[in-house]
Amino acid sequence: MQKIEVFGANKLKGTVKISGSKNASLPILAATLLSRNKIKLKNLPKVRDIETMIKLIQTLGSKVNFKNNQLNINNNNQTKKFASYNLVKTMRAGILVLGPLLAKFGFAKVSLPGGCAIGTRPIDIHLKALSKLGASYKIIDGYVHAMAPQGLKGNQIRFSKISVGATENLILAASLAKGITILKNCAIEPEIQDLINFLNKAGCKISWLSKRTIKITGVKQINEINYSVMFDRIEAGTYLIAAALTEGKIKIKDVDPKIIQTEIKTLKKIGAKITSNNNEVNIIGKKKIKNLNIKTAPYPGFPTDLQAQIMVLLCKADKKSVIKEDIFENRFMHVAELNRMGARIYTQGNKAVVNGETKFLAAELMATDLRASVSLVLAALNAKGKSIINRIYHLDRGYENIDKKLKKLGAKIKRIN
Ligand code: EPZ
Repeated sequence: MQKIEVFGANKLKGTVKISGSKNASLPILAATLLSRNKIKLKNLPKVRDIETMIKLIQTLGSKVNFKNNQLNINNNNQTKKFASYNLVKTMRAGILVLGPLLAKFGFAKVSLPGGCAIGTRPIDIHLKALSKLGASYKIIDGYVHAMAPQGLKGNQIRFSKISVGATENLILAASLAKGITILKNCAIEPEIQDLINFLNKAGCKISWLSKRTIKITGVKQINEINYSVMFDRIEAGTYLIAAALTEGKIKIKDVDPKIIQTEIKTLKKIGAKITSNNNEVNIIGKKKIKNLNIKTAPYPGFPTDLQAQIMVLLCKADKKSVIKEDIFENRFMHVAELNRMGARIYTQGNKAVVNGETKFLAAELMATDLRASVSLVLAALNAKGKSIINRIYHLDRGYENIDKKLKKLGAKIKRIN
C-alpha cells in the first residue's frame, strides 16, 4: 500500500491549477447512460472515484476511452441494467445509475451503496421519490430491483430532507419521464447546476422555479454533446486552507470565485488576505489565526467536505472554536489522528471543541476517509519533522496529483510505495 511522507513545516508559495470536480463528474457520468449516442466529457479529474464510475458505466455496456482528462463515450449499444456490489461498495455515488437506467429501460438492478466511515449513507429518500414517478422496487440480497414497466411518469415530489444524491437521481430519472416533474426542497450545490447545464445542453428541459424547486419536462432522448465539467470547489477550498495554515502565498487558478464565497469569507474572518478576479483567487496566510465557530450546512452554507480541513486551521487559532457537523452522523474520524499530532480536540456527538495554539508534532498516521486523509496532510505540512500518512488510497479517490501539486508549491512531500 502506498504512503505519503511529509517533512514540515514550510510555507506554500506559487500557483496551483484546480482540477475538474469529482462531485460534478460522478452524476454527469451517470447521466451519460440516458443517451443512446456519443458523448465527449472534458476536464474530468483523474481520481479513483472517476475511474470506478467509468468502470461501472463500462460494465453497463458503454464503450469508453479516457485519456488526458477527456472521456469519449459511445452508448449506441448500452443495454445492461445491473450495477454490481463490487463497484458500488467502494463508491457510493454508484447509486446514481439507478435513476437513468430506470428511466431508459424501465428496470434496474443496483447494489445498495452500504455505509462508510462517515455514516450509514441510506438511500430511502431516493427510493421514496422514485416511487412517486411510478417505479416500484424490492430490496433483495442487498440489491435494489426497481421496475417501471409502463415507464416513469412526471409528478410533484417534495424531498423530506435536503439530499445532493437524491436530487441528482431524481433529475436523471425525470429527464426521460413522461410529462412534467416538480422537485421541491432540492439540494442546490453547484455540482447540481453543472448536471442541469449538461442535461439542458443535451436537449433536456430543466429549470429552477424558485431557490430549491426544479421543474423537469421529460424528453424522449438526449442528444450527442461535448461538455466540460466545472472546477472542484472542495479541492480549491483545501488549497486555500493549506495556504492560510502555512502562512503561505498561493494563487489558485481555473476557479469561479463566486461559487466559493462562503469559504473565502470564512478564511478572511479566520485571518487570511484574499483577493480574486474572474477565474482565480489569491491568498496570503497571516501569522495570527483567529478562532471561529463553524456549522456545516447544505450549500451555500459551509461545506461538510471542508470540515476536517478547517478544523486543522482552527487548531492554530488564538482561542478555542466549536465546529458542528450537521450533515453526517460520524464525520470526526480525523480527530483521533489530529490529537495524536498534539491537537486538543474534544468531540461530543456532532460537536467538536477545537482548542487553539496547537503545535503540531510529526507522526505516523492512518487515513480513514477522503477528506479526513487530506486534513492529516495539512497538519503534517505544519508539523516540524517527518510525518507518514498510510492508506493514501483514500486521498487518491478525490484529489488529483495532490503530492505533485503540493510539491510544486514548495512542500517537502513524496509518495512511497
Ligand atoms: C454528496 O453525498 C457528496 N458526494 C458528498 O461528498 C457530500 O459530503 C454530500 O453530498 C453533502 O454535501 C457526491 O456528490 C458524490 P446527501 P450524498 O444525500 O449525496 C442523508 C466527498 O467527500 N440521507 O446530501 O451521499 C445522508 O445520510 C463526499 O466528496 C438520507 O438520510 O449526500 C446525510 O446525512 C462525501 N437518506 C445527509 O442526508 C437519503 O436517501 C446528506 O446526504 C440520502 C441522504
